[in-house]
Amino acid sequence: MTTPLTSLTVGTGKVGARVARRLEHLGVAHRIGSRARRPAFDWTDASTWAPFVAGSTSVFVTYVPDLGFPGAADTMAAFGEVCATEGVTNVVLLSGRGEPGAVLGEQALARTAGPITVVRCAWFDQNFSESFLLQPVLDGVIALPAGDVEEPFIDADDIADVVVACLSEPDAHLGNTYELTGPELLGFDDVARILSDVTGRSIAYLPVEVDDYAAAAVDAGLPAADAHAYAELFHSITDGRNAHLTPDVDKVLGRPPTTFERFATTTAASGIWDR
Ligand SMILES: NC(=O)c1ccc[n+]([C@@H]2O[C@H](COP(=O)([O-])OP(=O)(O)OC[C@H]3O[C@@H](n4cnc5c(N)ncnc54)[C@H](OP(=O)(O)O)[C@@H]3O)[C@@H](O)[C@H]2O)c1
Repeated sequence: MTTPLTSLTVGTGKVGARVARRLEHLGVAHRIGSRARRPAFDWTDASTWAPFVAGSTSVFVTYVPDLGFPGAADTMAAFGEVCATEGVTNVVLLSGRGEPGAVLGEQALARTAGPITVVRCAWFDQNFSESFLLQPVLDGVIALPAGDVEEPFIDADDIADVVVACLSEPDAHLGNTYELTGPELLGFDDVARILSDVTGRSIAYLPVEVDDYAAAAVDAGLPAADAHAYAELFHSITDGRNAHLTPDVDKVLGRPPTTFERFATTTAASGIWDR
């Protein structure tokens, strides 16, 4: 009998790397997807997909740059076909809340791969420590086209715990859609205050217009298409549609999600926000 294999597309990403560490700890055979590893995995090169998925029973699907971006649904449909052909029976997809484009991606993958588990997430806490909001935190100004909306920020460690549960127990989860949120609604000004408290520095939130955000992102070096896509995405999902909590972390894990304050305190101790 062969050992069941779990493959993680984007296994070096914020969530994928955390899932990989948990599978390692559990002694689950897994393959980390990366453009730099062998077999390589690259969303822009479909010839890498089948060799990467070959032999897997479970696949964790993370699409970059964003499941809601134009073209992602077509990619999901094609990747789902590969999963079905390669005999994958347990597909878990990382998705975003309140994104019509991401829902199309979910549907496209399920259409070709068969039943999947969808893990839709709120804004990651780690956007402020491992991603595009790290530099703004270091600079002391978090400028976003998000107005005064409140968001239930979630810790990527909680997401990874849920994903591992879904990968490990398909009988309990396959076919379900979970919406993961943190335990509280916070405005971006609340986040800035918490980050100021834990770092001992002045960090402010600056609401900006969507066009100004896109222009600044282009000035910072992002390709124009991506800058506008991100600006529109952030603007659309911060219109209040996601400003509510769900019980799904507790439902899957039997414990409440981590607070932003706890994430911020732990992360500050790591030194990542030291200038
Ligand atoms: N951030 C949020 O707040 C949020 C909220 C809800 C949902 N989401 C969803 O989360 C997903 C992103 O997950 P994440 O934040 O964990 O990932 P991530 O940290 O953004 O992933 C970064 C990794 O992507 C890999 N990568 C870049 N281009 C690639 C390509 N062409 N093919 C394959 N891999 C590539 C790179 O790894 P290598 O260099 O090793 O290849 C890089 O290390 C998106 O679909 C987004 O919609 C995000």
